Amino acid sequence: MAMKDPRSILITGASSGIGAALAGVYAGPGVSLALTGRHGERLAAVAAQCRERGAEVTTAVLDVTDRAALSDWIAAMDQARPLDLVIANAGISGGTDKAGGGEGASQARRILAVNLDGVVNTVMPAITAMRRRRRGQIAMMSSLAGFRGFPGAPAYCASKAAVKAWGESLRGSLRGDGIEVSVICPGFVVSPMTAVNPFPMPLLMETDQAAALIVRRLARNHGRIAFPWPMYLLVWLIGALPPIITDRLLAKMPEKTQLPETV
Ligand SMILES: NC(=O)c1ccc[n+]([C@@H]2O[C@H](COP(=O)([O-])OP(=O)(O)OC[C@H]3O[C@@H](n4cnc5c(N)ncnc54)[C@H](OP(=O)(O)O)[C@@H]3O)[C@@H](O)[C@H]2O)c1
Repeated sequence: MAMKDPRSILITGASSGIGAALAGVYAGPGVSLALTGRHGERLAAVAAQCRERGAEVTTAVLDVTDRAALSDWIAAMDQARPLDLVIANAGISGGTDKAGGGEGASQARRILAVNLDGVVNTVMPAITAMRRRRRGQIAMMSSLAGFRGFPGAPAYCASKAAVKAWGESLRGSLRGDGIEVSVICPGFVVSPMTAVNPFPMPLLMETDQAAALIVRRLARNHGRIAFPWPMYLLVWLIGALPPIITDRLLAKMPEKTQLPETV
């Protein structure tokens, strides 16, 4: 069942950007937040802000690719206070900028490991916990980049397309278990991830504005939370048109910056 007013919420990738902003929107008296990310200091700062708003906060420094550690932590958080809502948000991005010959294997594997395996590692333990009580909501972070493969960010687009399709499938397959699933597909949102983009980002949205919109639509159990709508319409159209029309257009699009640790 979707939660109009979730009280126990777990968010991965809560140490910055959209995840941190979502934690801030949900924070309040009577709410318990379980927040994770890899950078302890940033996570502690987000937790402190949420506590100031009256929330009870538990943090864990974890890498979402560490399947066993994440699974144990999610189970422990659920046991401490049954989770109403789990948001699989952690993600990284990287493109072909200066790649010369396309995206390298290490970047492609790292992006798929974090953005796809990391989401699987979050969602599976959440399903196990929620299925037992036939109640809960899961949100998975995809992107408008998941509606079509864009040449400037191959693995990123692939990871987001996979999350989108998996989430849409789960929404149908888990309904009978009382678990609601939503897929979130933002356009450009202000965050450390987009701060490195060297190109103009049309309809760039403020982080808090995006987080508030996501929270509102999750409360209404929207299956697909895609925004802003003109960008949604554009990517939907590009995805629907045949490659013979779109290939030439997409070849002119700017490339995303490469992931520094894999260069
Ligand atoms: N900003 C946009 O325009 C936009 C658009 C569409 C979709 N998205 C998606 O929204 C999500 C949040 O991105 P953002 O824009 O808020 O970027 P961000 O500020 O860079 O946030 C990414 C979050 O993921 C965490 N993270 C990254 N790798 C991780 C790992 N291996 N294990 C655990 N946590 C990890 C980061 O924390 P640590 O560094 O502490 O690990 C951080 O908290 C991502 O999935 C992204 O793809 C963003």
